[in-house]
Amino acid sequence: MIIVTGAGGNVGRQLVGRLKEAGAPLRACFNSPRKAAEARAAGIDAAVLDYAKPETLDPALAGGEKLFLLSPPERTELEPGVVEAARRAGIRKIVKLSVWGAPSEAFTFARAHRAIERKIEKSGIPLTFLRPNGFMQNFVAAHASTIKNQGAFYAPARDCRIRSSVRRAMPLNP
Ligand SMILES: NC(=O)c1ccc[n+]([C@@H]2O[C@H](COP(=O)([O-])OP(=O)(O)OC[C@H]3O[C@@H](n4cnc5c(N)ncnc54)[C@H](OP(=O)(O)O)[C@@H]3O)[C@@H](O)[C@H]2O)c1
Repeated sequence: MIIVTGAGGNVGRQLVGRLKEAGAPLRACFNSPRKAAEARAAGIDAAVLDYAKPETLDPALAGGEKLFLLSPPERTELEPGVVEAARRAGIRKIVKLSVWGAPSEAFTFARAHRAIERKIEKSGIPLTFLRPNGFMQNFVAAHASTIKNQGAFYAPARDCRIRSSVRRAMPLNP
């Protein structure tokens, strides 16, 4: 079974939909009890998982084989407890949503995500780190107000090309 954290967010919602379509066994984990209840009503195995509440971790991960690990923006410090819980639960693969440039540790998000990547590496659990660049969703979320009010958006990318990278320690479907 694949455990999906952040199942109610940008990435997790899409992932749950794709896994359902593919018929993969999954448990969707939500911080919001309301979203978890709605998912259950829609026939999805769902759990409430709050990284800040350690008592929610073991039940949410029980029976899981693979873990998709995502934290809210700027809250990656909450993830280490989940890595420990993954080890207790016998998780055999962690796919972590990280950020482009994490190994450089050259900016805040890179440093935050790289710290968790290291924790996962030390755990010895087989891993995949996804390192995307800026999401297109940012244009309709974070940048929406300046686009509406000033006809502009501000991103610290100048005229750089945009690239993403994936580090795979194992094939995606071992
Ligand atoms: N935006 C970008 O351009 C970009 C680029 C590269 C990497 N990233 C990384 O992508 C991640 C964000 O992904 P996203 O956009 O899918 O996130 P998101 O839409 O903001 O969703 C965050 C999810 O975290 C859950 N959550 C909130 N507090 C929690 C807690 N205490 N315990 C457990 N879960 C909690 C929320 O659950 P509920 O829905 O149940 O409330 C929500 O589903 C961040 O780590 C960010 O650094 C973002």
